[in-house]
Amino acid sequence: MNYQNLCMDVVALSREVGRFMKEENKKIRGSDVESKEHFNSLVTYVDKTVEKMVIAKLETFIPNAGFIGEEGTSDKIGDVYNWIIDPLDGTTNFIHGVPIYSVSIALKENEEIVLGVVYEVNLEECFYAWKDSKAYLNGKEISVSSAKRMEDSLLATGFPYWDFHKMDAYLRIMKDFTACTRGLRRIGSAAVDLAYVAAGRFEAFYEYSLKPWDIAGGAFIVERAGGKVTDFSGNRDLISGKEILASNGILHDTLQQKIAKEFLA
Ligand code: IPD
Ligand code: CA
Ligand code: CA
Repeated sequence: MNYQNLCMDVVALSREVGRFMKEENKKIRGSDVESKEHFNSLVTYVDKTVEKMVIAKLETFIPNAGFIGEEGTSDKIGDVYNWIIDPLDGTTNFIHGVPIYSVSIALKENEEIVLGVVYEVNLEECFYAWKDSKAYLNGKEISVSSAKRMEDSLLATGFPYWDFHKMDAYLRIMKDFTACTRGLRRIGSAAVDLAYVAAGRFEAFYEYSLKPWDIAGGAFIVERAGGKVTDFSGNRDLISGKEILASNGILHDTLQQKIAKEFLA
């Protein structure tokens, strides 16, 4: 398998469906918005259509591969290769006209991620990496930030939509981070948060109750850019999304210990 060629094909595909998303965004109306399992877990025909478009093309790249897609439009399971797809990460932004949303695609070979692409549609920024490669943004190599001090760092997070059982601990963590860093951002697309860690824009990103499609592409790119990705206990985890802390590596232990102290107590 030539991962580099495959990755560049996925980059081209992401740009193609990104153009479609941008055009459809101009037409989206309230009646296009549906709720999934919770009132605030939103989806539109664009999420579903893009997933189908992506799967149709990916099937031609690796015929025997399976698909783990957020919208569940394919139930095919691959013996070796499985694509992990979030066709539209940032659906709430998309619906509300906030121009930060992305396409996120990762390829899993057995249990290992071997390729990741995150395409932020409105700025036309494509972040990507493949097995043993560097990480790239629109053809230029990127790497995580070299900041060594919390005082010099900008962090990103996301708030849960439905799993509020850890909210008090989460707010205590936010209070601590707000006081000892340059600030905290919630931009509304976990895949973009991760891509920004890879590009050195954020020193770290953390969130809980995410899913594999939210993080697999971006988490892989963070590692290829020299960063570190673990759960809140400090164990490497690029796939589950249950808890994720992705950082420049240098600040990882400090962040992980602060999060664990409140969240895992
Ligand atoms: C959401 C975004 C958001 C995160 C949510 C995710 P979606 O994905 O990544 O930043 O906070 O938890 O569900 O629903 O827009 O694909
Ligand atoms: Ca998502
Ligand atoms: Ca989505």
